[in-house]
Amino acid sequence: MKAKMLVVDDDKINRVLLSTSLEEAGYFVDSAENGQQALDKLGGNAYDVVLLDLMMPEVDGFQVLDHIKKNDGLRSIPVIIISSEEDREVVAMSIGMGATDHITKPFDPLLLHARINASLATKHLHEQEEAHRKEIEEYNRHLESRVKEQTKDLREIAESLQKALDGSVHALSWVVEFRDPYTAGHQKRVSQLATAMAKEMKLQNNLIEGIRVSGLLHDIGKICVPSEILSKPGMISDLEFGIIATHPQVGYDILKTIEFPWPVARIVLQHHERIDGSGYPAHLKGDDILLEAKVIGVADVVEAMSRHRPYRPSLGINMALDEISKKRGSHYEPMAVDVCLTLFKDKNFEFDTSSAKI
Ligand SMILES: [Fe+2]
Repeated sequence: MKAKMLVVDDDKINRVLLSTSLEEAGYFVDSAENGQQALDKLGGNAYDVVLLDLMMPEVDGFQVLDHIKKNDGLRSIPVIIISSEEDREVVAMSIGMGATDHITKPFDPLLLHARINASLATKHLHEQEEAHRKEIEEYNRHLESRVKEQTKDLREIAESLQKALDGSVHALSWVVEFRDPYTAGHQKRVSQLATAMAKEMKLQNNLIEGIRVSGLLHDIGKICVPSEILSKPGMISDLEFGIIATHPQVGYDILKTIEFPWPVARIVLQHHERIDGSGYPAHLKGDDILLEAKVIGVADVVEAMSRHRPYRPSLGINMALDEISKKRGSHYEPMAVDVCLTLFKDKNFEFDTSSAKI
C-alpha cells in the first residue's frame, strides 16, 4: 500500500515542488497551505509522514508539531521539518519537541527519499512495538482474570470443605450426646470454654482451631459406654468407672484415620492425662501431654463440675474454679488454670446456654 504523506508549507512553490517529487517517488500526497488546514486534515486522515514548514502565519509549524506529539492517536507519525540553511536553531528546537528529522531547501531528492524511508522504517518499528505491548497487556489482563477466577473457585471450595468439616464434626458430636441427655451440650460448652482459654493464652490460630474441633469431639469414645452407666443416678462402681475410662482410647481409635489438619485424635486420647502422671490412659506427664489436651482437660473439669450430673447436683462454678486452683501445677497446666480463672472472674465468661442441645 502507498505511504501517505502530508506536506505543510505556506510557500506554494515549495509545496508543489515537494508534492510532485513525492508523487513521482510513488507516495500518496496530501498538502496543507497553513497550520490550521494541517490540523484539520490531521483530524480526519491517517498519515504515515508529515513534512512540516515551521515559519507560517497564525498557526505555525511549532503549534502543529506540538499538537501531533501531544495527541495519542497522532504521536507515532514521524514529522520531518522543512527548513532553510539559516534555520539551525529552530530546527534544533523542533527536534527537541519530537520532530524526527529535517530537510533543507532546496531539496535533494536522494536525501529526501532516504530520510522518508528511514522515518517510515522507524514508524513501522514503533507500530510493531506498540502492537506487541498491546498483545502483552491483553495477555496479562487475561492471565490476571484467570488467576482471579481460579482463586475465587479455590476459596469457594475451601469454604464448602470447611462447612462440610464443621457439619461432620457436629454430627459426630451429636451422636454421642444423643445417648446421654444429662450431658447434652457438654462437648460444645467445653469447646467454647477451651477456645476462649486458647485465645486468652494468645495461641496461634491453628492451635485454637484444633482445640475448638477437639473440644467438640473429646468424649466421642463414650459411644462405646453403655447408656445405663452414663445416665446412672448415684455413684458409679470401680467396674463402671473402668468402662468409662476406656473412652479416650476409643475416641482415638474412632478419629485416628481422619486426616484433620490438627492432631485431633491424640488430643482426644490425652484429655484425661494430668501433668503429674495421675491421669489416664497412659499416665503421661508434663510436656509429654499436648498443650491442646491440657487446655481441654481444664475446660472439661470446670464444665462438668458446674453442671448437674445424674449422680449429683451441680457443684457450682466456684467449686469448679477452687478445684482447678488447688490442683494448679500438680494436675493442671498452670497457664491454662490462670486464663480460665481470668475468664470467669475478670471477663464475665458464661457458657452459651443455647448449647444445652446440639
Ligand atoms: Fe472425657
